[in-house]
Formats: sequence, structure tokens, C-alpha cells
Amino acid sequence: MADAKLKAPRGTFDVLPDDALKRRELHRRGWAVLGRAGYRPFETPVFEDTDVFKRGVGPSTDIVRKEMFTFEDQGGRSLTLRPEGTAPVCRAYAEHGMHKLPQPVRLWYWGPFFRHERAQAGRYRQFSQVGIEALGSDDPSLDAEAVLLLAELLEAAGVRGTTLKLSSLGTRESREAYLGELRLYLREHEGELSQDVRARLDQNPLRAFDADHQGTRAAMAGAPRLLDRISPEDAEHFAEVRALLDGASLAYVIDPTLVRGLDYYTRTVFEFESHKLGAQSGVGGGGRYDGLVEELGGPPTPGVGWAAGIERILLATESKFPGAPRPVYVAIDETGTRREAFGLLTALREAGVRSELEQAGRSLKGQLKHADRIAARGVFIVGEDIRWRNMDTSEQQPVAGVEEAVQIAVGLLA
Ligand code: HAM
Repeated sequence: MADAKLKAPRGTFDVLPDDALKRRELHRRGWAVLGRAGYRPFETPVFEDTDVFKRGVGPSTDIVRKEMFTFEDQGGRSLTLRPEGTAPVCRAYAEHGMHKLPQPVRLWYWGPFFRHERAQAGRYRQFSQVGIEALGSDDPSLDAEAVLLLAELLEAAGVRGTTLKLSSLGTRESREAYLGELRLYLREHEGELSQDVRARLDQNPLRAFDADHQGTRAAMAGAPRLLDRISPEDAEHFAEVRALLDGASLAYVIDPTLVRGLDYYTRTVFEFESHKLGAQSGVGGGGRYDGLVEELGGPPTPGVGWAAGIERILLATESKFPGAPRPVYVAIDETGTRREAFGLLTALREAGVRSELEQAGRSLKGQLKHADRIAARGVFIVGEDIRWRNMDTSEQQPVAGVEEAVQIAVGLLA
């Protein structure tokens, strides 16, 4: 018996041509939106030193505790497939001395990311993100611009009816006193909390706001809110971000329980949710991370950005992405030769015509059926002479030779 069929690993998927075309189109639309706002494309490696994420994302986050694909290379170094893109971009900013460039430095990226999560619809172990990072300015207009750009990108991608949630986490310093207060509250309610939240009560008490656990959610309804405790400067920054979004007529809801799953956030945080996505409703999110570059060995540098999941965008979109352009088909009847047909095919392609040749030994009837299946605009039937069949009207006409055939096909493109 043959060996069992091999499959793509759990939580991963193959991108088949129809989907690959949609992703290309989304990339094109994304680049148009971000490029016109001055964001430049940027790429970092798919794996990094594990420390980039341990220090950057934070040791008490779900991502670092349980979701990283970490391995040792032949030299005994610990490497990790990137679970997110912000820490790598900040690592690169510090490594290349980008603080010497005119600030803010605006970058955008697109590529694969890896998290060992429970796989389900909209949640994968290898997924793709499009994201932006703007480094070197703490101006609230940069936060507002980032939020608007994500709104614009989702709009361009045909994702409608999203809810934008917005909050501020304050600076690290202004958060300290609050975290003490929150820990006290959590201790008082320890009996109602999930095992997981209790285990991280000291290290990462904010996570309690993110829990699915019934008891924890009930207990958190009465918990003190960080948004009520941030410093006057943080509150002013947040008010300005909101005023700018109001000015741009972008609707949002303030959600004081929005904490996000990564530790680097300071001040503004936001998330776009789509009701079309079910349990995995987050289509994109981000925020400000003013201490992250310094955490990764660079100079103190403010930053803000977001990332959105490509697969989730395509699950939520209402837009019909255009398919491949319709080809012209070169068929051969029993009196024609492969060489002649091949010559016509080459001439068509040289003239820029998307064209395909019969290559599967089909009868002429079979070839016409096939041309229909691939939505060909028309068929050149190569026999003793050449005939053109318009597939939309079924009209047939004689063609004088290769030159005229090319003219007909090029005319279709015009
Ligand atoms: P994140 O919220 O962890 O943020 O991920 C951003 C988006 O990536 C999510 O909204 C979701 O659409 C998609 N995503 C995340 N995990 C998965 C998964 N397992 N399967 C499918 N899609 C997924 C970040 O990654 C931050 N780096 C965003 C950021 C940039 N903050 C500041 N700058």
C-alpha cells in the first residue's frame, strides 16, 4: 500500500491560485493607501533571536509563554519564528541607527507570522499580516493617522461595518500605581478568577481584562479602570487623538477594558472588530509603544503602529476581487500542427496577449469546451488555415495569418 498522504501542518494552509490572486490585489490596494501616506516598504527576517520577542513582547504574554515556535540553530543559538512584527522593526531601527534619519520613520510590511495557537477558522499557526510602524514622534496626530490608515485600508479591502475600539494605557510610569491597585482588587476576588489569571496576577494583572472565563469576567466588571487613572499628560494626549478622529468623522467606542495581548503598549491602543469573523473578531489592531526601541537596545524612541490579518481581511471582505484576466486560447484541429499553433502562441505573448495553447490531446470539441471553462475571450483554431471564434458571440471568421491573428487579439485588449 502507498504511504499515507502528507498534509500541510495543522493550522497552516496552502494558498491556491484563486486566493493568491486576491492576496496580490489586497497587497496592491494596501500599498496604494500606505504609500500615499509616506510609508515605505520594509522587510525583516522571518526568524529573530528569541530575545527580541522575550524582551519586546514581554515574558508574561501568551505569545511568549506558549505560542512561539522556538528552535536552536546548529550553533546553539535560540531563534524564534516571528510571532509579530513590531519588535523586529524596532530591533532593526536600533540596529541601523534609523534615529539619525528624518523623523518620524514610516515603514510598512507584509508577510508571514507564526503563533502556536489553537487552530480554528480565522486563527492559524502561520498567518500573514500587513502592518505599519511610525517611529520617532509621540505627536498624537501620528496615532490618529495610524488609526485612519487602518480604517482606510479596511475600506479599500471591502471590509465594512467594523467596530473601532479605542483606549489609552498611559505611560509605564503612570501605570505603576494603578497596577498596585488592580492587584489588590484581584487578590480580594481571587476565588472568582481563572487559574491562568491567578497565575499571572503579579506579573501581568492587566490580562485579567482579556479573559474569556465567566467568573473572571464577572469579577472584572467592578474592577478599577486604568483609563480613569492615567496621568494628566496621558489624558491630554488621548483627548487630542480623539479630537483628531472626531475631526475626521471616524466613529469609535471607548473601551476601557481594551488591553491587547502584547506588553509593549503605552498610551493609545485600538482594535477593529468585524462581526463577520465570529469568535476571532479582531481584524486588525495596534497602538503606541514608546519604550520598545529602548528596551531592544536603541535610544529612547516613541513609536506607534498596527497590524491586520490578511486571512481575516479576506474572510470579512464584501468586495469581489477581480479574477485573472480572460485569456485567448489557441486550439489545433486534426489538420493543424503543433508547430504552427506554437508559433501563433509565441507571437501572441510577444504582443502582450495572455494566451494559452492546447496541450492535453483533446478533440476540437473538447478544446472548445475547455476554452469555455477557462473563460477564454476567443479561440484561434489552427488547421489548414486559422479561424477566430469569439467565445461570447460564437461567431467565427477566417484569419489571413499570424499577423492578423495578433491584430485581432490586441484589439480585444484595447
Ligand atoms: P495582534 O493584535 O497580535 O497585534 O495581531 C494583529 C492582527 O493579526 C490581528 O488583529 C489578526 O487579524 C491577525 N492575527 C493575529 N494572530 C493571528 C492568527 N493566529 N491567525 C490569523 N490571524 C492572526 C500585533 O501583532 C502587533 N504587532 C500590532 C502592532 C503593530 N502594534 C503596534 N504596531
